[in-house]
Amino acid sequence: MIIRKANSSDIKKSLDIAKTLKQWFTKEAIKNMKIDFVINNTIIVINKKEVIGFLCYNSDNGIIKLIWIGVEKEHQRKGIGKLMLDYLEKEARKIKSNYIEVETLTEKDNYKPYRLTRDFYKKYGFKKLYLKKAPKPRWDDVDVMGKKVK
Ligand SMILES: CC(C)(COP(=O)(O)OP(=O)(O)OC[C@H]1O[C@@H](n2cnc3c(N)ncnc32)[C@H](O)[C@@H]1OP(=O)(O)O)[C@@H](O)C(=O)NCCC(=O)NCCS
Repeated sequence: MIIRKANSSDIKKSLDIAKTLKQWFTKEAIKNMKIDFVINNTIIVINKKEVIGFLCYNSDNGIIKLIWIGVEKEHQRKGIGKLMLDYLEKEARKIKSNYIEVETLTEKDNYKPYRLTRDFYKKYGFKKLYLKKAPKPRWDDVDVMGKKVK
C-alpha cells in the first residue's frame, strides 16, 4: 500500500471512485471536487497500482480542514480511511498545526450512509464541536467535528 500526494492522473481516478459512491456524493459534489482536488492538497492510497482512496484537505487560520474523503466500496472497513487520517495528522504535526476539523451531515439527520461516516470520524477521535446551520435553502445543516492532533 502506497500513500502519497495525488498527480493529475490520480485525481481523475479519485473522481471516478467518488462517482461510484452515489449514496454520499451528488453530481454537484463531484463538480465541486473537480475544483477542490486541484486547488487544495489531495492525497491518495494505491493498492496493486490502483488508486483505492483519496483525501482532500486545506487549512484555514492554522486549522487543517478535511474537505473530502472516500474509499472504494470494496476496500472500505479495511483501515484505508484510518491510514489517510494518520497521514494527515503526520502532515499537521510537521507544520505544527494542532487541530483537524471536518464538516459532515448533522447527526439530527438519520440518513444511514452518513451515520456510518460520522461513526468513522468518532471512531478515530473526532468530537462534535457545533452545529452549522445551512446558509442557503436546500443546503444541509452540518456538524463541525474536530480532533486535536497529538
Ligand atoms: C468514511 C470512509 C472514508 C472510511 O474509510 P474506511 O477505509 O472504510 O474506514 P476504516 O476502515 O479506516 O474505518 C472503518 C470504520 O469506519 C466506519 N465505517 C466506514 N464505512 C462503514 C460501513 N460501510 N459500514 C459500517 N461502518 C463503516 C465504522 O466505524 C468502521 O469501524 P468498524 O469496522 O470497527 O465498524 C469510507 O467508508 C467512505 O469512503 N465512505 C463514503 C464517503 C464518505 O462518507 N466520505 C465522507 C464525506 S466527504
